[in-house]
Amino acid sequence: MKFFVDTANLEQIKEAKDLGILDGVTTNPSLMAKEGIKGKDAQWSHYKAICDIVEGDVSAEVISTDVEGMIKEGEALSEIAPNIVVKVPMIKDGVKAISYFTSKGIRTNCTLVFSAGQAILAAKAGATYVSPFIGRVDDISWDGMQLIGEIAEIYAMQGFETEILAASIRNAKHIVDAARAGTDVVTCPLSSMLGLLKHPLTDIGLAKFLADHNKVNG
Ligand code: E4P
Repeated sequence: MKFFVDTANLEQIKEAKDLGILDGVTTNPSLMAKEGIKGKDAQWSHYKAICDIVEGDVSAEVISTDVEGMIKEGEALSEIAPNIVVKVPMIKDGVKAISYFTSKGIRTNCTLVFSAGQAILAAKAGATYVSPFIGRVDDISWDGMQLIGEIAEIYAMQGFETEILAASIRNAKHIVDAARAGTDVVTCPLSSMLGLLKHPLTDIGLAKFLADHNKVNG
Protein backbone atom coordinates (compact mmCIF):
# COMPACT_ATOMS: atom_id res chain seq x y z
CA MET A 1 0.00 0.00 0.00
CA LYS A 2 1.23 3.48 -0.89
CA PHE A 3 1.15 6.30 1.63
CA PHE A 4 0.35 9.85 0.49
CA VAL A 5 0.09 12.93 2.69
CA ASP A 6 -3.01 15.06 2.10
CA THR A 7 -1.78 18.62 2.51
CA ALA A 8 -0.27 21.57 0.67
CA ASN A 9 1.80 22.56 3.72
CA LEU A 10 5.48 22.27 2.79
CA GLU A 11 6.68 21.76 6.37
CA GLN A 12 4.23 18.91 6.91
CA ILE A 13 5.22 17.36 3.58
CA LYS A 14 8.89 17.52 4.63
CA GLU A 15 8.05 16.02 8.03
CA ALA A 16 6.14 13.16 6.37
CA LYS A 17 9.00 12.64 3.92
CA ASP A 18 11.51 12.49 6.77
CA LEU A 19 9.67 9.43 8.12
CA GLY A 20 11.00 7.63 5.05
CA ILE A 21 7.63 6.13 4.16
CA LEU A 22 6.10 8.82 1.96
CA ASP A 23 5.03 7.83 -1.55
CA GLY A 24 3.27 10.99 -2.68
CA VAL A 25 1.09 14.02 -1.97
CA THR A 26 -2.50 14.98 -2.66
CA THR A 27 -3.72 18.56 -2.66
CA ASN A 28 -7.05 20.16 -3.42
CA PRO A 29 -8.22 23.77 -3.82
CA SER A 30 -9.28 23.93 -0.15
CA LEU A 31 -5.85 22.74 1.04
CA MET A 32 -4.12 25.26 -1.24
CA ALA A 33 -6.37 28.05 0.07
CA LYS A 34 -5.57 26.98 3.65
CA GLU A 35 -1.92 27.78 2.91
CA GLY A 36 -2.97 31.24 1.67
CA ILE A 37 -1.70 30.56 -1.84
CA LYS A 38 -3.44 33.01 -4.12
CA GLY A 39 -3.30 33.36 -7.90
CA LYS A 40 -2.31 30.94 -10.64
CA ASP A 41 1.41 31.79 -10.65
CA ALA A 42 1.74 31.32 -6.88
CA GLN A 43 -0.28 28.08 -7.03
CA TRP A 44 1.83 26.64 -9.79
CA SER A 45 5.12 27.52 -8.15
CA HIS A 46 3.77 25.91 -4.99
CA TYR A 47 3.07 22.70 -6.92
CA LYS A 48 6.63 22.90 -8.26
CA ALA A 49 7.94 23.32 -4.69
CA ILE A 50 6.00 20.21 -3.59
CA CYS A 51 7.31 18.23 -6.58
CA ASP A 52 10.85 19.28 -5.67
CA ILE A 53 10.40 17.77 -2.18
CA VAL A 54 8.64 14.55 -3.15
CA GLU A 55 9.69 12.08 -5.83
CA GLY A 56 6.32 10.29 -5.86
CA ASP A 57 3.05 11.39 -7.39
CA VAL A 58 1.66 14.83 -6.56
CA SER A 59 -2.02 15.44 -7.32
CA ALA A 60 -2.85 18.95 -8.56
CA GLU A 61 -6.53 19.68 -9.10
CA VAL A 62 -8.12 21.50 -12.03
CA ILE A 63 -10.52 24.33 -11.23
CA SER A 64 -12.44 24.30 -14.51
CA THR A 65 -15.70 22.39 -14.72
CA ASP A 66 -15.98 22.21 -18.52
CA VAL A 67 -14.03 19.67 -20.54
CA GLU A 68 -12.16 22.27 -22.64
CA GLY A 69 -11.05 24.16 -19.56
CA MET A 70 -10.04 20.98 -17.73
CA ILE A 71 -7.96 19.83 -20.69
CA LYS A 72 -6.20 23.19 -21.00
CA GLU A 73 -5.48 23.36 -17.26
CA GLY A 74 -4.53 19.69 -16.94
CA GLU A 75 -2.11 19.80 -19.85
CA ALA A 76 -0.42 22.85 -18.36
CA LEU A 77 -0.33 21.31 -14.85
CA SER A 78 1.24 18.14 -16.23
CA GLU A 79 4.09 20.26 -17.61
CA ILE A 80 5.07 21.49 -14.13
CA ALA A 81 6.89 18.26 -13.25
CA PRO A 82 6.87 14.62 -14.38
CA ASN A 83 5.34 13.50 -11.07
CA ILE A 84 2.24 15.71 -11.38
CA VAL A 85 -1.03 13.77 -11.51
CA VAL A 86 -3.97 15.82 -12.76
CA LYS A 87 -6.85 15.69 -10.32
CA VAL A 88 -10.25 15.84 -11.99
CA PRO A 89 -13.71 15.87 -10.35
CA MET A 90 -16.18 13.06 -10.97
CA ILE A 91 -18.60 14.97 -13.17
CA LYS A 92 -19.66 14.33 -16.77
CA ASP A 93 -17.06 16.67 -18.26
CA GLY A 94 -14.52 15.26 -15.81
CA VAL A 95 -15.02 11.76 -17.23
CA LYS A 96 -14.55 13.15 -20.74
CA ALA A 97 -11.39 14.97 -19.64
CA ILE A 98 -9.99 11.84 -17.95
CA SER A 99 -10.62 9.84 -21.14
CA TYR A 100 -8.77 12.51 -23.10
CA PHE A 101 -5.86 12.62 -20.64
CA THR A 102 -5.66 8.80 -20.74
CA SER A 103 -5.37 8.89 -24.53
CA LYS A 104 -2.52 11.40 -24.20
CA GLY A 105 -0.66 9.47 -21.50
CA ILE A 106 -1.36 12.12 -18.84
CA ARG A 107 -1.96 10.53 -15.44
CA THR A 108 -5.12 11.41 -13.51
CA ASN A 109 -6.72 11.18 -10.09
CA CYS A 110 -10.52 11.13 -10.25
CA THR A 111 -11.68 12.96 -7.12
CA LEU A 112 -14.95 13.46 -5.23
CA VAL A 113 -15.99 9.83 -5.65
CA PHE A 114 -18.76 8.65 -3.33
CA SER A 115 -20.16 5.52 -4.99
CA ALA A 116 -19.02 2.30 -6.65
CA GLY A 117 -20.79 3.40 -9.84
CA GLN A 118 -18.67 6.54 -10.01
CA ALA A 119 -15.57 4.41 -9.41
CA ILE A 120 -16.52 2.18 -12.37
CA LEU A 121 -16.80 5.26 -14.62
CA ALA A 122 -13.40 6.53 -13.44
CA ALA A 123 -11.79 3.17 -14.20
CA LYS A 124 -13.44 2.91 -17.61
CA ALA A 125 -12.10 6.38 -18.45
CA GLY A 126 -8.62 5.11 -17.53
CA ALA A 127 -7.99 7.15 -14.38
CA THR A 128 -4.66 6.33 -12.74
CA TYR A 129 -6.23 6.79 -9.30
CA VAL A 130 -9.79 6.95 -8.01
CA SER A 131 -10.39 8.85 -4.77
CA PRO A 132 -13.33 7.67 -2.67
CA PHE A 133 -13.85 10.12 0.23
CA ILE A 134 -14.25 7.90 3.28
CA GLY A 135 -14.70 10.58 5.95
CA ARG A 136 -17.28 12.54 4.00
CA VAL A 137 -19.28 9.35 3.36
CA ASP A 138 -19.19 8.60 7.09
CA ASP A 139 -20.27 12.21 7.77
CA ILE A 140 -23.64 11.51 6.14
CA SER A 141 -23.98 8.28 8.17
CA TRP A 142 -23.10 5.93 5.30
CA ASP A 143 -20.18 3.53 5.41
CA GLY A 144 -17.01 4.87 3.81
CA MET A 145 -15.03 1.72 4.45
CA GLN A 146 -17.70 -0.46 2.86
CA LEU A 147 -17.32 1.71 -0.24
CA ILE A 148 -13.57 0.98 -0.38
CA GLY A 149 -14.31 -2.75 -0.07
CA GLU A 150 -16.94 -2.64 -2.84
CA ILE A 151 -14.64 -0.80 -5.24
CA ALA A 152 -11.74 -3.15 -4.44
CA GLU A 153 -13.96 -6.16 -5.13
CA ILE A 154 -15.26 -4.77 -8.42
CA TYR A 155 -11.84 -3.66 -9.67
CA ALA A 156 -10.31 -7.07 -8.86
CA MET A 157 -13.21 -8.93 -10.48
CA GLN A 158 -13.18 -6.78 -13.61
CA GLY A 159 -9.41 -6.44 -13.90
CA PHE A 160 -9.46 -2.62 -13.75
CA GLU A 161 -5.99 -1.16 -13.33
CA THR A 162 -7.06 2.10 -11.66
CA GLU A 163 -5.56 2.34 -8.17
CA ILE A 164 -7.90 2.98 -5.25
CA LEU A 165 -6.74 6.03 -3.29
CA ALA A 166 -8.64 6.16 -0.01
CA ALA A 167 -9.14 9.88 0.76
CA SER A 168 -10.85 12.05 3.36
CA ILE A 169 -9.13 10.08 6.11
CA ARG A 170 -9.83 11.43 9.58
CA ASN A 171 -7.82 9.19 11.92
CA ALA A 172 -5.34 6.33 12.20
CA LYS A 173 -8.11 3.73 12.40
CA HIS A 174 -9.35 4.85 8.97
CA ILE A 175 -5.88 4.06 7.59
CA VAL A 176 -5.84 0.56 9.06
CA ASP A 177 -9.41 -0.16 7.98
CA ALA A 178 -8.77 1.11 4.45
CA ALA A 179 -5.72 -1.15 4.23
CA ARG A 180 -7.85 -4.12 5.34
CA ALA A 181 -10.55 -3.19 2.82
CA GLY A 182 -8.03 -3.50 0.00
CA THR A 183 -7.07 0.06 -0.89
CA ASP A 184 -3.96 0.59 -2.99
CA VAL A 185 -3.14 4.01 -1.55
CA VAL A 186 -4.09 5.98 1.53
CA THR A 187 -3.87 9.76 1.57
CA CYS A 188 -4.16 11.32 4.98
CA PRO A 189 -3.27 14.36 7.06
CA LEU A 190 0.11 14.16 8.79
CA SER A 191 -1.72 13.92 12.15
CA SER A 192 -3.44 10.65 11.11
CA MET A 193 -0.14 9.27 9.81
CA LEU A 194 1.57 10.09 13.12
CA GLY A 195 -1.45 8.67 14.95
CA LEU A 196 -0.37 5.22 13.73
CA LEU A 197 2.66 5.52 16.00
CA LYS A 198 0.68 5.89 19.16
CA HIS A 199 0.18 3.08 21.66
CA PRO A 200 0.30 3.56 25.44
CA LEU A 201 2.04 0.21 25.92
CA THR A 202 4.87 1.37 23.65
CA ASP A 203 5.38 4.46 25.82
CA ILE A 204 5.14 2.45 29.07
CA GLY A 205 7.44 -0.26 27.72
CA LEU A 206 10.06 2.21 26.50
CA ALA A 207 10.02 4.11 29.81
CA LYS A 208 10.58 0.80 31.67
CA PHE A 209 13.40 -0.30 29.35
CA LEU A 210 15.19 3.03 29.82
CA ALA A 211 14.62 3.05 33.60
CA ASP A 212 16.02 -0.50 33.91
CA HIS A 213 19.00 0.44 31.75
CA ASN A 214 19.67 3.53 33.84
CA LYS A 215 19.42 1.55 37.12
CA VAL A 216 22.43 -0.48 36.05
CA ASN A 217 24.31 2.05 33.93
CA GLY A 218 23.61 5.15 35.95
C1 E4P B 1 -8.38 13.94 -1.38
O1 E4P B 1 -7.50 13.93 -2.22
C2 E4P B 1 -8.85 15.15 -0.69
O2 E4P B 1 -7.84 16.13 -0.79
C3 E4P B 1 -9.09 14.98 0.78
O3 E4P B 1 -8.76 13.70 1.23
C4 E4P B 1 -10.40 15.50 1.26
O4 E4P B 1 -10.49 15.29 2.64
P1 E4P B 1 -11.51 16.07 3.58
O5 E4P B 1 -12.84 15.41 3.48
O6 E4P B 1 -10.92 15.91 4.95
O7 E4P B 1 -11.54 17.49 3.12
